[in-house]
Order: sequence, then structure tokens, then C-alpha cells
Amino acid sequence: MRLNPFTGTYLTDPASIWRRILDDPDGVHYAEDLGLWLISRHADVRRALADVTTFANTLTLAPVYEVCPEALSVLMQIDAPPTTAAADPPVHPRTRRALRATFANTAERVEADYGAIVRRRVDQLVNRLAARQGDQVDLIPEFATELPLLVVLDILGVPDADIGRIRSWADGQIALVWGQPDPAEQVRLARDLLEFWHYCEDLVRQRVASGHEGDDFISRALAYRDDDDTVLTVPEVASLAFNLLVAGHETTAGLLAHALDQALSTPQHWSALTTDPGGAAAFVNETLRFAPAIDGWLRVTSRDVTVGTVTIPAGARCLLLIGAANRDPAVFAHPDQFHPHRVDAGNHLSFGHGPHFCVGAGLAKLEAEIAITRLADSIPGLRLASEQQRSYKPNVAFRAHRTLLATIDTRTSADIPAARDEVAAEAHAA
Ligand code: HEM
Repeated sequence: MRLNPFTGTYLTDPASIWRRILDDPDGVHYAEDLGLWLISRHADVRRALADVTTFANTLTLAPVYEVCPEALSVLMQIDAPPTTAAADPPVHPRTRRALRATFANTAERVEADYGAIVRRRVDQLVNRLAARQGDQVDLIPEFATELPLLVVLDILGVPDADIGRIRSWADGQIALVWGQPDPAEQVRLARDLLEFWHYCEDLVRQRVASGHEGDDFISRALAYRDDDDTVLTVPEVASLAFNLLVAGHETTAGLLAHALDQALSTPQHWSALTTDPGGAAAFVNETLRFAPAIDGWLRVTSRDVTVGTVTIPAGARCLLLIGAANRDPAVFAHPDQFHPHRVDAGNHLSFGHGPHFCVGAGLAKLEAEIAITRLADSIPGLRLASEQQRSYKPNVAFRAHRTLLATIDTRTSADIPAARDEVAAEAHAA
């Protein structure tokens, strides 16, 4: 089978490709162009995510194409030790324990540790948007990518002034690993990534020098290691920061963009959110299922393994199609329909499954729920621009909107006769 995720249908309508693979009796395919095995069924993706002995993580953060020699020589200088997504046992259980101890990851701890940060940053951005009554804005840079980045900077204790370069380094890493840059671009992105790694090493060096008394993540991780390299090394603290600065914002930015797109594309969804803020949690959950921010995730086989009727050889890179698994009719009724009140939406695999399950799931959900609720409350008349052209950045893992143009309108639908009539007509037609 041929799959080109960088152009054509996979970029504009990935669900139609997922459907084709799911409908095939095998559910597993070798994509020759990519050199990747595609695994699509919910049960198979779930098993592969959980079975870290057979489906290892060593190459999860390694580029999906053959890197040119010049870029490779730059990448070889990045001596960040694997700690989370690219680590396997025996390292991963130890570094994961450290991360869980220092980064809030249950709903209660997330609310207690990060609730105030999230609310402050949401208020800041929503107030800025609400002040632009009547303007057309692009919700991607002005809200969706900005919020999670500001939150993760606060959590790590990184100054706001560094936001521009961190955004550019993180975007660059995603394009370098899961995109299709040409050789000149590979070299540029590899150099940027090396600079980003040095920046993270510096952040940690500064905290070590200042006695790491603060309550930020880096200080907490340094206190946790308590000068004991068998618990966690200083380069591992820098590597955790290196990972969190990317994992903590590009993903949640995608969730916010998809949630706003789903909500605003169907006016009665937005209208329901403006009148029933309690509906935000279920709405976010169904967004995670229907339009995951990461819809493909890499693993590499450590032995020959049979999935369904297909045997995948040892040493093969596999793309676990989370987006397809979330639409598997064996698990979800009418999977291609978006139902904000679907009771089993929580069976999605968008945060992974098993030993590597996303540490930031609680934070991402809290951010999205508060953001949607506050936006719906303060800008109830928010609506998508009519000339909207959906397009996503070319990438095998991250499904990120390029733009989402909307008009700021702080009036309620009751104040706007045209909007009220439109909602009523849509509700009638539904
Ligand atoms: C909607 C938002 C998010 C999505 C869709 C998402 C998705 C994922 C996925 C698919 C994995 C791989 C899981 C596996 O291999 O089983 C993962 C791992 C991870 N995520 Fe997230 N993530 C999100 C938000 C966050 C946030 C906000 C943070 C931190 C601030 C974060 C930190 C991590 C880390 C550190 C890992 C690696 C865990 C490990 O290997 O043990 N993620 N995430």
C-alpha cells in the first residue's frame, strides 16, 4: 500500500484513509514509501502501546526518513539521555517514577498544582481576544498554541521572554522528526535542536547554581534526585525539560484547535457550550477521540511479531494509527460521527496506553476544559470565518491546523437575531 502523509488526502481528510485501512481484512499494512508498518485496529494499537518489550521506544523520537549526513553529524552532538518517550527498560521505569513524583499527573494534583496557572493564563488570553470585538483573528497563534506554551513555561519556571525561541525550536523538532524537510532544512533544524538542548542544559545548570529552592518543575526534579545519580542524573533532568517543553504544548495546542474547530463548525455545539459549561469535559473527551492531536505514534519491533494475520519482522518501524483506532467500529458505534455525549469516548487511545501513558493528560484536559468554558462565556458569539480552508501541517504524528480564522463577537446569540435564527435552523435540521 502507498501512503503519503505529506500531501493529498491524508492531509485534508485522514479519516477516509483510516477507514480504508480499517475496512481491509488485515488491518495492518506495509507503507513502502515510508518504510513503516501501519497498525490500525484499536485492539492491535492498544496492545502495541502496552507491550514495550516487543514494540520498543528506542526510535520513537528518531526521524522517519533517512537523514542527510551533515544533519546527522549535528544530531549526533545532542547527548540528551533518553528519559521518557524514547526510553525503554531498565531506564524508563526509573525516569518515569521521577517524572510522576515531580510533575502533577492526577486530576487532583493537576488542579492543586497547576489550576491557578492555567486560569491566570486563560484569563489573560481570553481578555485579550474579547477586547477585539468585531475583528477577525487566527485562533491558532492567538490562542491555541499560545496558551499551552505559556502554561508549560510557568510550570518549568522559564521566563516569558523565551517564548518565541522555544516555540520555534519545538515546531522545528516536530518537522525534523515526523515531517519531510529537504536536506538544507534538515541541517538548519538539527542545528536549532542542538541549540535547544544546550538551552535546556543551561536552564538546569542555573537552577543547580542557585540552590534550586523554587517550586518549578526543574527545581523539584533536582530536589527529588537529592544528588543521587542512581535516582536521576543532572543530564536526565535537562532531558526531561527538553521533552516537556515540546510534549507539553504542541499536543495541547492541537487539542484546543480541534476542539474549537469542532465546536464552532456546528453552531449548536458552540451554543450548547455557552449555555452549559458543564458540557466542556465531555466535549473535550470526544474531541480527543474524534480528532486526536497525535494521530500516529512510532514504535520499533524487537522481534518478529504477528498482528492479526500479518507477521512484522524484527527491527521494523511501526506507525500506530491512533486516529484510526479511535474510529474502529469494533469499539465505537458510528465512529465517524462526532457525539459530544458519547458515553464510551474515554476508550480513545489519544494519550497512549500502558507504561508510557501520557504524563500530561490531566493537565491537557484541564487546560482545554477551562479554555473552552471561558471562551464560550466571554465570547459567546465567536464564529468561524466563512472562507475557512482547513489544512494541516504535513506530519506523520502531529495533526496541527495551520490556521483557524474566526470573528470575535462578545454578544450572546439572543442579542444577534441572525445568529439566533441560524442556530434555530440548524437545530431544526439536526
Ligand atoms: C492533548 C494533549 C496531549 C496528547 C494528545 C498527548 C499524547 C501523548 C501520547 C500519544 C504519548 C505516548 C504514549 C504512549 O507511548 O503510550 C504521550 C506521552 C507523553 N506525554 Fe503527552 N500528550 C498531550 C499532552 C501532554 C502534556 C500537556 C504533557 C506535559 C506537560 C505531556 C507529556 C508527555 C510525556 C512526558 C510523555 C512520555 C511519557 C512516557 O514515555 O513515559 N503530554 N503523550
